[in-house]
Amino acid sequence: MFKSIFANNPPLCYNYAVQQFLSSLGRVCAIIGAQWGDEGKGKATDILAGHFDVIARACGGANAGHTIVVKGRKHVFHLLPSGCLHEGKPVILGAGMVIHLPTLLEEIATLREAGIDILPRLHISHEAHIIFNYYKAMDAALEERRSRAKGQGIGTTKRGIGPAYTEKAARSGIRMERLEDDLSQELQQRAKDAQTLYGVTVESAEELAALKEAAALLADRVSDTVDLIHRYRSEGKTILVEGAQGVLLDIDHGSYPFVTSSSTSSAGALQALGLPPNALTSCIGIAKAYCTRVGSGTFLTEAPEEDAQRLRDRGGEYGATTGRPRRCGWLHLPDLCRGALTNGFTHWNITKLDVLDEEKEIPIGTGVDAQGKPVFDYLPGWQASTIGITSFEGLPENARQYIRYIGEQTGVPVALIGTGPEREHMIVKN
Ligand code: GDP
Ligand code: IMO
Ligand code: MG
Repeated sequence: MFKSIFANNPPLCYNYAVQQFLSSLGRVCAIIGAQWGDEGKGKATDILAGHFDVIARACGGANAGHTIVVKGRKHVFHLLPSGCLHEGKPVILGAGMVIHLPTLLEEIATLREAGIDILPRLHISHEAHIIFNYYKAMDAALEERRSRAKGQGIGTTKRGIGPAYTEKAARSGIRMERLEDDLSQELQQRAKDAQTLYGVTVESAEELAALKEAAALLADRVSDTVDLIHRYRSEGKTILVEGAQGVLLDIDHGSYPFVTSSSTSSAGALQALGLPPNALTSCIGIAKAYCTRVGSGTFLTEAPEEDAQRLRDRGGEYGATTGRPRRCGWLHLPDLCRGALTNGFTHWNITKLDVLDEEKEIPIGTGVDAQGKPVFDYLPGWQASTIGITSFEGLPENARQYIRYIGEQTGVPVALIGTGPEREHMIVKN
């Protein structure tokens, strides 16, 4: 029976190494992507959620696509935190989020079909912003405008993220606290602006109907989640924060302007949840054993197409949200080091090590030369399968060397290593 898959069994069994690792995480742990997103945050969240009391998403919207695989079955989350498969655990959508309500309803319905009723334990911040359908059309119109003016767009997910955060910063956004209000007049005014400024038609009746449907289901799930999270804290509950996107997509510290519109950092996540900076007891930086990017912008260590296609094929590197092929390349140590500094990574989870199993030699970007070209170190490959290996000692020596190298060069210990998409495909390393 499907439900039994998600019974509250913690995915990591409690041996000594696992106990040591879990106790090193403390009461509030954030999971933060260290690259351009899609590092495997969802899988780490799903695994660790079994060991935490409360799971929260902080920022972003349905631009995120977090895939987890449980007993061969794939689940993709865009708005709900990936930890929501663990029954009984409260899940929070924080104030920094921008929420497309029909997408949220769809996710709730998909979970219900799978035998999980998330509603009683779902808490949505009244301060989170609503994404209307027409924001998506605006997003597309803006992309087209950029393409015309500059020859290329940002390559957004067209989920209305930019327009939602633009409205938020302009202080004209509509927040979840207004879910039950009559917004017809306001939408009419907005329809005029959208038409004049972006050539976008607002289907007011459709938007209002979507709001009504969402309000019927979600109105009593909207609350002051800052108050709630602090109540949980005062009760001694542990909190797992699932980041979205990655540090190189951060609006301040990412590869601007080819970034998303929110703060993707640990600090951004805390701010969005109303937690103080000193609440964070650990921060796991998630990085692939190589690197990918969806959308435009520089990618210093991007591999030539033949190598990129090999990584893409082995890693299944196609976007979970848009299906776009991900650009593929190699690690770039300076980015990992900077991400560690700006986010306070206490541990690494290096994911998808198995994708490198057939490589003869693995380039790792260590910086740039005087011409701005990337400089690489080359580590020997292991050319043996690591799929599903669950102990560090069980890895081929060259794979261990590769992992040690990342830890040494970044100064952050590697605690988790992904060796496949399944829940069980994870090494806990002491
Ligand atoms: P997220 O956005 O950071 O949650 O990452 P995505 O879910 O978008 O992309 C990561 C993809 O890699 C998903 O399809 C995962 O199932 C898969 N994945 C995660 N960890 C591993 C791993 O260690 N090995 C392999 N082969 N796949 C993994
Ligand atoms: P997860 O959480 C990968 C990228 C888009 C684009 C840029 C701006 O699954 O890691 P946006 O729609 O946010 O305005 O697009 O950011 N992007 C992501 N890339 N994973 C994501 O989320 C992303 N969210 C946004 O591809 O380049
Ligand atoms: Mg993703």
